[in-house]
Amino acid sequence: MFSKRTLRSAAGGSGVALIAVTAALVAATTPSAHAADTPLRTLAEAKGVYMGTALTAGELTGTSASIASTQFDEVTPGNEMKWDTVEPTRGTYNWGPGDQIVGFAQQHGMQVRGHNLVWHSQLPGWLTSGSFTNTQVHDLMVKHVTDEVTHYKGEVVHWDVVNEPFNEDGSYRSDLWYNQIGPSYIADALTAAHAADPAAKLYLNDYNTEGENAKSNAMYTLVKSLKQQGVPIDGVGFQAHFILGQVPSDFEANLQRFADLGVDVAVTELDVRMATPASAANLQQQAADYTKVVNDCLGVTRCQGITVWGFNDATSWVPSTFPGQGAATPYDTNYQPKPAYYAIQTALGGGGTTSPPTSPPGGGTCAVSYTANEWNTGVTANVTVTSASALNGWTVVLTYPGGSRTVTQAWNATVTQSGGTVSATNLSYDGAVAAGGSVSFGFNADWSGSDPKPSGATLNGTACTVS
Ligand code: G3I
Repeated sequence: MFSKRTLRSAAGGSGVALIAVTAALVAATTPSAHAADTPLRTLAEAKGVYMGTALTAGELTGTSASIASTQFDEVTPGNEMKWDTVEPTRGTYNWGPGDQIVGFAQQHGMQVRGHNLVWHSQLPGWLTSGSFTNTQVHDLMVKHVTDEVTHYKGEVVHWDVVNEPFNEDGSYRSDLWYNQIGPSYIADALTAAHAADPAAKLYLNDYNTEGENAKSNAMYTLVKSLKQQGVPIDGVGFQAHFILGQVPSDFEANLQRFADLGVDVAVTELDVRMATPASAANLQQQAADYTKVVNDCLGVTRCQGITVWGFNDATSWVPSTFPGQGAATPYDTNYQPKPAYYAIQTALGGGGTTSPPTSPPGGGTCAVSYTANEWNTGVTANVTVTSASALNGWTVVLTYPGGSRTVTQAWNATVTQSGGTVSATNLSYDGAVAAGGSVSFGFNADWSGSDPKPSGATLNGTACTVS
């Protein structure tokens, strides 16, 4: 696991084990919208990447916390580590909100992406209207970076050290930092951050840099120059705030050219916005967009992971910033997974459906018939599932009360085993099931210990009768 990518080693081997074990425990014990599905974090880890989400301190309880901790293995504080929150008064630090996010992450085996240290936005009034000299601004920046990175030393794996330094035409953004320090503020911020926590992976982060264009060219030139000067830079973040259907066709190639400079890359703030209310066709296009982003990252060895900027439409930043638009995330406003969720799941190698079930069966509305022909330590199992509701894609999970089995061959489904369960997901030709219809699949397995019949089964997360 994680052999392709270097990021995981930043957390240390034990961190990897912790994440994997915690994910397994969470998956096994926490009810979620998709208890039967393999969590995105588990699928991502198997691909050597992380799957992250932005979270704010208000989202650390209830449904939001349950889904976030089950599905994601990295968290970026939405606002809690920004300058106006962390240092609202000069030299006085407010660590509470950021610490809450870190505590949540640690409790659930998630890594933390620190966001952010130096940005033009969300700065406190004392700083923006302080009429400081250029030297004072420089020293205030270095002190803030040093103090914040020191506070979170060993707890934040990736830092967005400088956020959004460029204009669309590739010129430097005219902000406090550039205007009073000049372009060297970027190297100085990175150097201060590295001194405070040499193990943290330090990133520059920006938006509209996903394709090759004037802005990404400017970032490329900057990163190349920083590397040549020996400035400590580890990675480049691509925010990926996309408009429906507009993921640049050259995103992967662009990620690769940065990687070829000798830095890691990451998708740091992914969402795909559209006009609301969302049409079914647009949700399908959005699923295709998410698929492309995941594939683009997976196509680049140095792409460390993907973070969505909020996992649900209820708390997404989009509607308040772009009136009339929204529906940008993988979960809807009721915290139900959308086609985009299934698209991510599938792109990460899960056996998910490409769209949610059209009518998920209610309790008691599915029946599993299971027959087994055993020999020595082998078995051929045939399973027929009958669903009261029409299905557009299905996953059946069989739970065994004992023994263990290794699936060696399967038909009419992709079949995997994990611990005491066997999961089967439709193939391209048998995902559609009419209301009241049945579908059959089967598998050969080697078993050890014993090979009892399953004591439970679910169809798309809903319990079925077993006979
Ligand atoms: O905390 C105040 C609250 O006291 C006040 O009552 C309320 C009234 O509007 O505002 C609250 O502050 C808001 C803050 O989020 C915390 O909720 C700000 O108005 C609001 O502008 C701010 O928005 C954040 C935005 O950055 C600011 O630019 C979003 O939540 C946050 O998701 C967004 O994140 C950025 C990334 O950091 C960088 N990339 C783009 C991304 C989306 O804009």
